[in-house]
Amino acid sequence: MFSERIDRMEESLTLAMSQKARELKAQGRDVMAFSAGEPDFDAPSVVKSAAIEAINAGYNKYTAVSGSDELLGAIAGKLKRDNALEYSTKQIVSCTGAKHALFQLFAVLVNHNDEVIVPTPAWVSYPEMVRYHGGKAVLVPTKPENGFKITPAELKAALTSKTKILVLNSPSNPTGSIYSKEEMLSLGETLKGSDVLVFSDEIYEKLVYTTAFCSAASVSDDMFSRTITINGLSKSAAMTGWRIGYFATARTEIAKAVTKLQSQSTTNLTSIVQKAAIPALDGSADGDIERMRAVFERRRNLALALFGEIDKLKAIVPMGSFYIFVSCEECERDSMKFCLDMLDQVGVSTVPGAGFAQEGYFRFSFATDEESIKRGIGKIAEFVKGFK
Ligand SMILES: Cc1ncc(COP(=O)(O)O)c(C=O)c1O
Repeated sequence: MFSERIDRMEESLTLAMSQKARELKAQGRDVMAFSAGEPDFDAPSVVKSAAIEAINAGYNKYTAVSGSDELLGAIAGKLKRDNALEYSTKQIVSCTGAKHALFQLFAVLVNHNDEVIVPTPAWVSYPEMVRYHGGKAVLVPTKPENGFKITPAELKAALTSKTKILVLNSPSNPTGSIYSKEEMLSLGETLKGSDVLVFSDEIYEKLVYTTAFCSAASVSDDMFSRTITINGLSKSAAMTGWRIGYFATARTEIAKAVTKLQSQSTTNLTSIVQKAAIPALDGSADGDIERMRAVFERRRNLALALFGEIDKLKAIVPMGSFYIFVSCEECERDSMKFCLDMLDQVGVSTVPGAGFAQEGYFRFSFATDEESIKRGIGKIAEFVKGFK
């Protein structure tokens, strides 16, 4: 009954975790969740006011498919100001979340058997989207000693005549790694002379702690022409539920192709959200965005200090994002078993590394308050004591 496409896609591995957490809660157990992929803050008040104003002003109609001129102008302004990237409004498309932007980009670019290089550990939606569209996800394991970042040699070894796209996600979900300008440049050098496109998912751009953020497209003219910059407001402005994402590309024909697809599917991003996004893009919400980042930084430092006291676990120090990727290899390599047992025994829910194609690890989200972080890591320490 179902299409081959949907049969190629796998269900999220984390479903088993959520199911178990629900069962335990139904039994009246205290379950602490550190699996959230979203900030626990409210959206900035300037964003909310802009949405209310738009509603009261009757901003109810369809807009242009790629977004209103006002929104596209605000995105172009943001990319110029923050990332030193100059795109015209014809090279930008606003979508219903960065996930939607990525899905549509894969849809218009991936043909049967095209290869898409995904350095792992990685956000699991990339390979699933590639498979859905008939492409081959080439998972390239990266090494902890390289900060879980793909090296030029690893990239070179993975390139074939069928390679269509390289996916980069900096800062990374789940490791928090950030590629420096030099690292981006040398990956760019490796791609020189090829037709490979780069998808640069920059959704965690504003959540950085130690290393400066660098946009892939900004490092050279060659990288600018091959990179599609993908971003949104879910993580930076705590707007996950508003569903605003966008991409920008020097290749106007790619923006045109996605606009064609979107015109036959979701049409435009909700008109009210387009208005609300403007203060989050034009600098008006920068104070709120920085305040949230600073709170995340405190929580990160707290969580790292607490994990540091647990001998059998090794936390990877995140340069950005709101996740800590923790090695549980000394206790248990099967990350699903480790996480399910931990949930069962001490009521702490995290995400198994297997969900990011990396066994022997789990992802701990610190998008929650300090008291919960202290209690939760205390419970993790108690669970880990059970391993010899
Ligand atoms: C790496 C990465 N990219 C994209 C997204 C999706 O963001 P959005 O809410 O804009 O669809 C997420 C959300 O978890 C993510 O972790």
